[in-house]
Amino acid sequence: MHCVRSITDDLYWIGGNDRRLALFENIHPIEKGVSYNSYLLLDEKTVLFDTVDWAICRQFLENIKAVLGDRTLDYMVINHMEPDHAACIEEIILRYPNIKIICTEKASLFMHQFGFSIDDKVIKVKDGDSMSFGKHNLVFVTAPMVHWPEVMVTYDTTNGVLFSADAFGSFGALDGKLFNDEVNFDRDWIDEARRYYTNIVGKYGPHVQSLLKKAGNLDIKIICPLHGPVWRSDLGYFIDKHDKWSRYEPEEKGVMIVYGTMYGNTEASANYLATKLVEKGMKNVVMYDVSKTHVSYLIAETFKYSHVVLASVTYNLKIYPPMLNYIMDMKALNLQKRTFAIIENGSWTPQSGKLIRELLNEMKEMTILDNDITLTSSMKVEDCDSMDSMADSIIESMK
Ligand SMILES: Cc1cc2nc3c(=O)[nH]c(=O)nc-3n(C[C@H](O)[C@H](O)[C@H](O)COP(=O)(O)O)c2cc1C
Ligand SMILES: [Fe+2]
Ligand SMILES: [Fe+2]
Repeated sequence: MHCVRSITDDLYWIGGNDRRLALFENIHPIEKGVSYNSYLLLDEKTVLFDTVDWAICRQFLENIKAVLGDRTLDYMVINHMEPDHAACIEEIILRYPNIKIICTEKASLFMHQFGFSIDDKVIKVKDGDSMSFGKHNLVFVTAPMVHWPEVMVTYDTTNGVLFSADAFGSFGALDGKLFNDEVNFDRDWIDEARRYYTNIVGKYGPHVQSLLKKAGNLDIKIICPLHGPVWRSDLGYFIDKHDKWSRYEPEEKGVMIVYGTMYGNTEASANYLATKLVEKGMKNVVMYDVSKTHVSYLIAETFKYSHVVLASVTYNLKIYPPMLNYIMDMKALNLQKRTFAIIENGSWTPQSGKLIRELLNEMKEMTILDNDITLTSSMKVEDCDSMDSMADSIIESMK
């Protein structure tokens, strides 16, 4: 059975949801599923915008048929060649052999690499090129590394719709609700949107900044991303979030305490610090066990908060492996502009703190408070003063 929604009088959402997939990119848990969005424009010519993941290809083909009626597909705009959107290109070609494919030069190279035979079908476009399909005029705007190098976004000058590829997307399946004004985004979606952005696109902040600059020159009325809700109101709210995230500016003054513990002593010290912070007036404190929390959630929270306390046991003279994994991911994603405090623990040669400091020093614009704490096996009453002054310096550095 088909399942589509109309966005304007001649533009349709024809994507679908995957609630079965456990791990996006085989890495990130998606407990709320994910949507793969595709769009179909019925002008004098018919234009398809991207395809979907293989998992929902059948639904997608039924949706296309339902919207087209007895018309055929004339054009397919491929904004992004990653298989979560491009997997069904060949299925489309098989069913609509006269279709023309509009994409960047790099995307056509990727089509070859993924084994699609598209030679006589491709119309290559460059940044700023435009094409008319009847009433609608489309402008193609390259957005390299807003996930992959071949990416472009497509802007419809007739109705102000921006097909934004992976930009402005979110994890989470669409439960019948397609538009941002049909959900409570700030309550129910923002955390998954942040986790999607930071883990998938987070590394490419400067590239997202240049896309935001280009987009600033367009009169955008609707944003149609490849994942998550379609934006038709309050665009500024979501653009502002992306502006912050891509400049690596924290959204909130607050403290995220991440602890790595085996027997619970490091956790006890983290609890003590959190309590002191709250007693001293800093109530925006969150705590995570690094072993129990998937790193994608830790990354999203690290993009959100201004201050991070890393409390880690020493493990075979190194940083506790799950903590190391988290810090390396933070580094790989280019995170910047955070203030850190460090607590190390060890029973014979505590040195996780020193090693954490070295790693943080290799990252850009990170401030590390200088009162590192060393615990030997467990926190004692004698450690309370240094823990208190760590809480004080965290609060002081927020001013
Ligand atoms: C496999 C393993 C390796 C360890 N390696 C070190 C080490 O190299 N240096 C050290 O000081 N302590 C080492 N420890 C001890 C723990 O870091 C220490 O007992 C710590 O206080 C435990 O804190 P927790 O209660 O938060 O787990 C190791 C422990 C384990 C199980
Ligand atoms: Fe992508
Ligand atoms: Fe994607």
